[in-house]
Amino acid sequence: MPVVSIAREGNVAVVTIDNPPVNALSQAVRQGLLDAVTALDADPAVVAVVLQCAGRTFVAGADVSEFGKPPQEPHLPDVVSAIENTARPWIAAIHGSALGGGFELALACRFRLALADASVGLPEVTLGIVPGAGGTVRTIRLAGVEAAVDLVTTGKPVRAGRALELGLIDEVVDADLLEAAVALAKDLPNRTLPEPLPQRPAPVADDAFWTDAEARITKRARGEIAPLRALACLRRATESDFVTAMTFERATFLELRAGPQASALRHVFFAERAAPKPAALSGVPALPLRTAAVIGGGTMGAGIAAALRDAGLPVILIERDEAAVARGIANLSDIFAGAVKRGRLTDAAAEARIAGVAGSTDYAALADVDLVIEAVFEDLAVKRDVFAKLGRICRTDAILATNTSYLDPREIAEGLANPARFIGLHFFSPANVMKLLEIVPTPETGDATLASAFALARMLGKIPVRSGICEGFIGNRILKRYRAEAEALVRQGHAIASIDAAMRHYGFAMGPFEAQDLGGLDIAFLQREGARAAGRNVPETLGDTLVRAGRKGQKSGGGWYDYNVGDRRPLPSDEVARLLCLDPATAVEADLGSIADRLVGAMADEGATILSEGIAEKSSDIDLVEIHGYGFPRWRGGPMFQAASDH
Ligand code: NAI
Repeated sequence: MPVVSIAREGNVAVVTIDNPPVNALSQAVRQGLLDAVTALDADPAVVAVVLQCAGRTFVAGADVSEFGKPPQEPHLPDVVSAIENTARPWIAAIHGSALGGGFELALACRFRLALADASVGLPEVTLGIVPGAGGTVRTIRLAGVEAAVDLVTTGKPVRAGRALELGLIDEVVDADLLEAAVALAKDLPNRTLPEPLPQRPAPVADDAFWTDAEARITKRARGEIAPLRALACLRRATESDFVTAMTFERATFLELRAGPQASALRHVFFAERAAPKPAALSGVPALPLRTAAVIGGGTMGAGIAAALRDAGLPVILIERDEAAVARGIANLSDIFAGAVKRGRLTDAAAEARIAGVAGSTDYAALADVDLVIEAVFEDLAVKRDVFAKLGRICRTDAILATNTSYLDPREIAEGLANPARFIGLHFFSPANVMKLLEIVPTPETGDATLASAFALARMLGKIPVRSGICEGFIGNRILKRYRAEAEALVRQGHAIASIDAAMRHYGFAMGPFEAQDLGGLDIAFLQREGARAAGRNVPETLGDTLVRAGRKGQKSGGGWYDYNVGDRRPLPSDEVARLLCLDPATAVEADLGSIADRLVGAMADEGATILSEGIAEKSSDIDLVEIHGYGFPRWRGGPMFQAASDH
């Protein structure tokens, strides 16, 4: 079967792209489309052409296997322009998603029809590039300046209904899409055709609009260049003729495609695609997960329960006593109320989420659940006691997981009958938002349990990374090294505020010290104190000195910085300088780039050790941990990618 075929419905030709799974615009598809234009233009019997796709979606984008390689002929802009300039009007019939090059193809057609649940968009910026086949130039002519700026610089797709309002499509179809498209094609002789986009005037905007948009996007992008370059393409589309704007867009596309940010974002794209389905587990069946329980309804337990509810699983929430059950349910209600406030959930959906949670103090309620996730206090004795109960009450094939951050899962599982079903599932806070899930099997964890943990990650929309057992697993171990390196810089005379500024400049939302002030310095302190009490040699950190002086972060009025009441802006602190014997007057002058390089270098160095110990399986897994758990800028590809690119 050719990837592009032509059929007839009377005097209407139907061109079908059939390139599973998502009808990506491979070289063969581009060639097939170009051949179809030539063949149909030469056929006087054809009055109009319908372009549709087989399978589950319209063209969902470029062919990922061609990513990063030199573009092959025919190039997409030439195919798009051939369709736009054909003697016959083409009509795009969109189901599923028309994204990136797929939407650019649709934009070349004279009409666009879409099913109500279809979506269209230009997500190129998420891969560090801009549309390269007229996406910016045509979109702005159809949707106007503001909508085009929003669409192209965020990369977020829109549903058919919204696309209709914006003028991006002409009609939303409820029934048979092909039938509607063919009917429209047959009716064309009775209609006035819309002018082709190149002949339509581009909208205009004044300088103030562009300056404002640039400021807004610069702030949001934090060093990412593609959204700003996309904005420049849109501006050019309003200020020059069609052909000049097309040339400008294509040149920008080619330049960015060959650049470091696009390369980093492709690396992350492929790492994310591979993560949910590790090759080692292919063919291992996962156990069915239909019902779940969470033990502990505190910060993590409530977040995990919310994530499970978002995925549609009924949840039993177990707490110590009735008052704690009520607090746990209240924590969950707060999470859903927050989602309602941000417009992510309707009131009715939030109610349904809560209705699916049964709070209890009685472990007997867990006799038939498929999965239990423990998130009680970080205390070995408490956790062991919980698992002893679970071992007695749950089905022998139920998966029993711990959310421990620092304890050794092997010790938690000690004494458990059937330890093959035990596993570590390390969520990140807030657990219903953060994408990362560290999956920590013990040597006794069975393959089916491991496969089920990955299946759970897929159900919850998480990015799973397998970690071996060590203190802090992958993420918190690197965090510890990162903080130690940041403290080393302070000891060497760098100003605390310069270190934070360097990491913000690098692309993090916050530097290491601001982040500790927000999260609280006491958690890591207590953990170190615990280790000291157990007889381990844990050197005193600068953070310990601050906590001992009562400086636990924002919640205690100050940590690494001072804060004015009701204001989260960090202010350099004289008290901190005194406590840590720092002399701000003699602070080392260093450029922000070299500070960031040193801290990222330390992360990569720890990552390399983690790899060599077999704690992580692939260096790209470490990058995913940093990006999805610790705010590492995605467009930098992660610390391991950075280290590899430096050589
Ligand atoms: P938390 O103190 O907010 O919540 C713990 C909850 O467990 C409390 O509501 C408590 O009443 C309940 N609980 C204690 N013993 C219980 C028992 N025997 N049966 C039932 N419920 C019991 O603590 P948080 O922060 O939620 O941490 C929980 C676990 O998650 C810890 O192991 C922690 O290391 C881990 N974790 C914490 C993260 C964080 O950012 N807070 C991130 C990832 C993991």
